[in-house]
Amino acid sequence: MTTPFKNILDQYLEIIENEMARIDSYQNVPLFYDPIHYMLDLKGKRIRPLLTLLSAMAFGGKAEEAKYAAAAVELLHNFTLVHDDIMDNDATRRGKPTIHTKWDIGTAILAGDGLMGLAFRKLLQSPRGDIPAMMGRLTETMIVICEGQGLDKMFENMENVALDVYLDMIGRKTAVLIEMACELGGMAAEADPNSIRTLKEFGYALGMGFQIQDDYLDITADEAVLGKKIGSDLQRHKKTILTILLRELSGDNDFFNLNLYDFKKLMETFKVPDKVSNIYMDYFNTAYQKLATLPSNEHTLHLTELTDFLKNRSW
Ligand code: IPE
Ligand code: IPE
Ligand code: MG
Ligand code: MG
Ligand code: MG
Repeated sequence: MTTPFKNILDQYLEIIENEMARIDSYQNVPLFYDPIHYMLDLKGKRIRPLLTLLSAMAFGGKAEEAKYAAAAVELLHNFTLVHDDIMDNDATRRGKPTIHTKWDIGTAILAGDGLMGLAFRKLLQSPRGDIPAMMGRLTETMIVICEGQGLDKMFENMENVALDVYLDMIGRKTAVLIEMACELGGMAAEADPNSIRTLKEFGYALGMGFQIQDDYLDITADEAVLGKKIGSDLQRHKKTILTILLRELSGDNDFFNLNLYDFKKLMETFKVPDKVSNIYMDYFNTAYQKLATLPSNEHTLHLTELTDFLKNRSW
């Protein structure tokens, strides 16, 4: 990110962090609240709430109004991560031990449940926008994410997952949340329905590119930078864009037990990394095209800059 843009984002991030940290109903239940605070204090990229704030501001909304929807989106995201790490049996997230590793599985399930409740409560506090409609979107999105996570798990035990079936799965587990982040921003600013539709389409394309990149980073990233264990997907027999293309190109499915070095070599042989980056670049290009149809102002410019940052991310 360029420095002036980063300074602007830092101001917004502070608003979002402050809102997320406001958990008013604090009772003396450290078993419940300590892991929640632990998770929220870990430094995630916070791209989803930034998308909500910027989407609202692009249509005349104020950060102080849209911050509730933004915090709700990030809280919901954090709920999915806590439960995802149990499902994926991952010990590291954001460079730190996952909740079920630092505490135990029961405590992590409870923390995830709590984060979900806090997300719903935060959105109900939105001072602007059609609250029942926004709550409806949050509810439906949550159900679709669970469908996506269910498919992701089912695919671990399936040999042949076609590319379009995989794309449907990542649309559900990841893209719908990024889509909703943008949509709720538009709704919180009471933008017109056409613009909200474009924001959604932008978010969906961005979300698809984002998950394909996430699969790519599972193998190619630097573990210390990524903050997650490299090779986790391969170890769990996840059907990712990498393994699906490799199976299609090699006509073989025998690579799940290879070590990381040999798996990477095999991928290079079939030019899988290049093909994958072309696929996610196509999604990012769709995202840019959607953005280009929105009114041009400083906030839509920031959405473009955020897309640039994501396109080039290494974590
Ligand atoms: C991780 O999301 C989960 C996916 C959808 C791939 P992020 O990469 O946005 O995670 P944080 O919030 O920055 O840790
Ligand atoms: C992300 O899937 C989807 C959700 C968390 C809902 P991943 O399992 O690929 O996410 P990471 O890689 O653990 O962050
Ligand atoms: Mg995972
Ligand atoms: Mg997962
Ligand atoms: Mg992943």
